[in-house]
Amino acid sequence: MDREQWSRVVEAATRAPSIHNTQPWSFTVTGDRLDVRTDPSRALHALDRSGRQRVISCGVAVEFALVALRAAGSEVAVELQPDPADGDLMATLTVTGPREVSEADRALGAAIASRHTERAPFQPQAVPAEVVDDLQRAAGTFSVWLEPITESDEEVATAFLLARAEELEQGEPEYVAELQQWLRTDPAAVDGIPVAAVPEEDPATRPSNWLVRDFVVGSRPADRSPFHNPEDPDAPPPAVERPAVVLMGTDNDDAVAWLTAGRALGQVLLRATVAGLAASPLTQALDWPATRAQLRSRLSLVGHAQMLLRLGYPSSDRTPSTNRRPVAEVLTFAG
Ligand SMILES: Cc1cc2nc3c(=O)[nH]c(=O)nc-3n(C[C@H](O)[C@H](O)[C@H](O)COP(=O)(O)O)c2cc1C
Repeated sequence: MDREQWSRVVEAATRAPSIHNTQPWSFTVTGDRLDVRTDPSRALHALDRSGRQRVISCGVAVEFALVALRAAGSEVAVELQPDPADGDLMATLTVTGPREVSEADRALGAAIASRHTERAPFQPQAVPAEVVDDLQRAAGTFSVWLEPITESDEEVATAFLLARAEELEQGEPEYVAELQQWLRTDPAAVDGIPVAAVPEEDPATRPSNWLVRDFVVGSRPADRSPFHNPEDPDAPPPAVERPAVVLMGTDNDDAVAWLTAGRALGQVLLRATVAGLAASPLTQALDWPATRAQLRSRLSLVGHAQMLLRLGYPSSDRTPSTNRRPVAEVLTFAG
């Protein structure tokens, strides 16, 4: 593979979602090998003390690189955390030979560019069970479980813990400062969350049970009654979205488990995109050890929750996708 081909692969890898769009990664190409490293200088110390969500983000980048390589006709071997003495080296991908590219390879490769997080309300149309089954199977190939939250008591417990975590976070000055540090008003910014990617409405009053992370904390009016339309108080409430909400998790809770959860998340997001769906993570309840532990006991989970994802059909006016740092900033050619 030449430098241009590797640059395209790394560009695809950087399209991975990452917590607060921190893009906590760097890449080195040596011959036929791509090393993916995490960049601890882009860590979120208030929200993600253990680095779990940073490592998950890198796991998605690993999977996107793999999907891009396969779509371009390469067979690849992946090794996670290959060097125990070098904890920041997340994975090594080695091209092992040519691959006959299937239609599915091509579709997943194309989905990398069209996927982005959609926080705006979805259309009311429900996600078919077969699609959720397919996502569950895809996650299962990584030994990552994916469970739709369908029972109403599970839904109530999860939505409650999400709201509780959001409230805890908003009362934590360090968390709020970090969030503000990664919020971007300049649409040309190459990292962080652009305000245009965040729905203007107050998340607490949107027509959904599922509270998306509030990125503009502190600038809300005190009175936040659900579904209240100040222009027409008698207006009927808007159509309520019916997203599929799925919880993904692993048996272990170490760096390899986080990377593997990230890889599974990458596959799930790309397959969902191919099926016409959009997604947004709802990870507030997992940010905090206390609410994460409560979720585990309230849902009687065996193992560790790694990702809560809201999936649905996006409305026609989608929020724009977010930028990435230029490839030259994150890619080095060695030797
Ligand atoms: C581990 C992880 C956790 C995330 N948590 C949230 C979240 O709680 N709320 C949210 O709106 N987006 C969340 N995101 C989405 C990121 O903000 C998003 O991926 C990033 O801004 C890049 O935008 P894009 O996905 O549209 O390319 C999360 C992403 C990752 C990888």
